[in-house]
Amino acid sequence: MKTNIRHKRPLSIAAAIALACLASGNAAAAPPAGRLLAAQCAQCHGTGGSGRGFDELAGESAQELYSELREMKFHTRIESIMDRQARGYTDQQLRAIADYFASLPGGGH
Ligand code: HEC
Repeated sequence: MKTNIRHKRPLSIAAAIALACLASGNAAAAPPAGRLLAAQCAQCHGTGGSGRGFDELAGESAQELYSELREMKFHTRIESIMDRQARGYTDQQLRAIADYFASLPGGGH
């Protein structure tokens, strides 16, 4: 039976970790919604919204980012990749994304 116990232990440790993560998800440790949503933007605009080669989003005014995103979302004819990106989010999500990027330090490159 000894081998059986050894075999089972990693599973119960994993379960304990999973439970701990679930529990902390309810606490203040959860990242802000805007940051989770903005993870999608990082592949082009860079981690933290200040990559090279694309428009810098970090440190922009939240109001400006939000109205740009809304404008792109409602372009009747899809003209750019951003028009497609913006369509994937509700207004509330766009606002959260804009607030998140505005909260980051800009001028990173
Ligand atoms: C697949 C690549 C890609 C992804 C992913 C992407 N963008 Fe963009 N973004 C671009 C490109 C390219 C431009 C330049 C303008 C254009 O072509 O529409 C741009 C432009 C912008 C602009 C306009 C900046 C300006 O000053 O005019 C904003 C705001 C923006 N992106 C926000 C976002 C946000 C927020 C996300 C995540 C929800 C995101 N982007 C995801 C490629 C991307």
